Amino acid sequence: MAVGVFDSGLGGLTVLDAARARLPDVPFVYYADSAHAPYGVRDSEDIYQRTKKAVEYLWANGCDLVILACNTASAAALRRMQEAGVPKGKRVLGVFVPLIEALTEREWGDNSPPREVAVKEVAIFATPATIASRAFQRELAFRAIGVDVEAQACGGVVDAIEDGDMILAEALVRSHVEALKRKMPEPQAAILGCTHYPLMQDQFQDALGADVKVFSQADLVAESLADYLGRRPEMAGDGTSKFLTSGDPKQVSSRATQFLRRQITFESA
Ligand code: DGL
Repeated sequence: MAVGVFDSGLGGLTVLDAARARLPDVPFVYYADSAHAPYGVRDSEDIYQRTKKAVEYLWANGCDLVILACNTASAAALRRMQEAGVPKGKRVLGVFVPLIEALTEREWGDNSPPREVAVKEVAIFATPATIASRAFQRELAFRAIGVDVEAQACGGVVDAIEDGDMILAEALVRSHVEALKRKMPEPQAAILGCTHYPLMQDQFQDALGADVKVFSQADLVAESLADYLGRRPEMAGDGTSKFLTSGDPKQVSSRATQFLRRQITFESA
């Protein structure tokens, strides 16, 4: 048994790496649905069906707890899967809440009514499907009042990263930040609402300017996973870590190794 970590492709590796650093004794099975990435341009039903299939695959392969390390999958599928009811002893968790709790200065799981928070102008960068779902805005509205949110759908960035074309990815990041700034010239904070974007965090920070506080998910999710496993240690498991993909394992391994700067070997799912 191990903790499952799911993403459409390589982005969830940013969450996995932070989780491994925070929880070195926990085994993780990472599953990238590379054959169908990116998810961010698919419709909500399609993303839901693919995510459900992937989570059920991980459950069936010994991962009682699955982390959706993908905002697009979380936005389209998490609430729906939880509402439909998950099998006994299984859990699926997403990545929005830890980030929104950090932005709104809340302790984990603090569900008290929304209140005023320090940040007043927030930019959100995410995939077209995540922005269309308005999931971030909804989670924020549950916890904070008086926050102005401007959302920017960052078409093309995930494809460029998955293709290893970092020059194109950087150009797209700069143009999406410019587009955001035309709508909100001086955001105080920016949310990188896609787990691929920490791979471009320096470029986002540079284009936004040093005064903008950039929130990204990897460390926040790792911390909240550590908190969760502290309360539910039986969900961690004692199996073997591995990397699985629905795509070409050779190509996915080579890109993953390039991004994380250590050898990563994917196997066929
Ligand atoms: N890393 C995924 C996310 O957080 C990327 C989604 C995609 O495949 O477009 O949204």
